[in-house]
Amino acid sequence: MGLQVEVLISSEEIKKRVRELGEIISQDYAGKDLVVIGILKGAVVFMSDLIREIEVPLEIDFMAISSYGEATQSSGVVQLLKDLDTTIEGRDILIVEDIIDTGLTLSYLFELLRARKPASIKAVTLLDKPERRQSEFVPNYIGFSIPDAFVVGYGLDVNHKYRQLPYVGAVTEQNGGV
Ligand code: IMP
Ligand code: MG
Repeated sequence: MGLQVEVLISSEEIKKRVRELGEIISQDYAGKDLVVIGILKGAVVFMSDLIREIEVPLEIDFMAISSYGEATQSSGVVQLLKDLDTTIEGRDILIVEDIIDTGLTLSYLFELLRARKPASIKAVTLLDKPERRQSEFVPNYIGFSIPDAFVVGYGLDVNHKYRQLPYVGAVTEQNGGV
């Protein structure tokens, strides 16, 4: 299909790390009123695995925001496409992201959600590309820090495809369309 992908993080490594994150999060949220919020669409694969490793009671909800459109460059312009169904005032919010790149998306989102007065707000990301940061944003929980490469799989897409790969791969070559 014109796209060459090199495995960067195997499904076994992901599984192990997701289990570890679930354990840490379960400890940190004991006795709290946890609402896990997934950012559509990239976070759905990670989130569905992660919540099954969390042992404290929780609710889930989703938001959709767009910062990139079709391009792979962050514009800094963030648009809210789908808001929460849940009221978050006084509750403990954990945002789930697939990857933090410039950090602009989550900076915007934190600001937006803080205005609704949650008791706490944190973020967990499967992947972090710290080299690319253009904001002060620091995630609370990180699956893997990766170098500056474009990655796909385990929820991450290139032009809306490849989200179903069970591993995270780096795109090494793109011949024509995907
Ligand atoms: P940012 O942190 O505001 O730059 O945006 C993060 C979002 O950009 C993620 O949720 C992804 O949708 C997208 N993104 C950033 N880097 C990659 C990548 O390497 N592969 C796929 N999507 C990416
Ligand atoms: Mg995303």
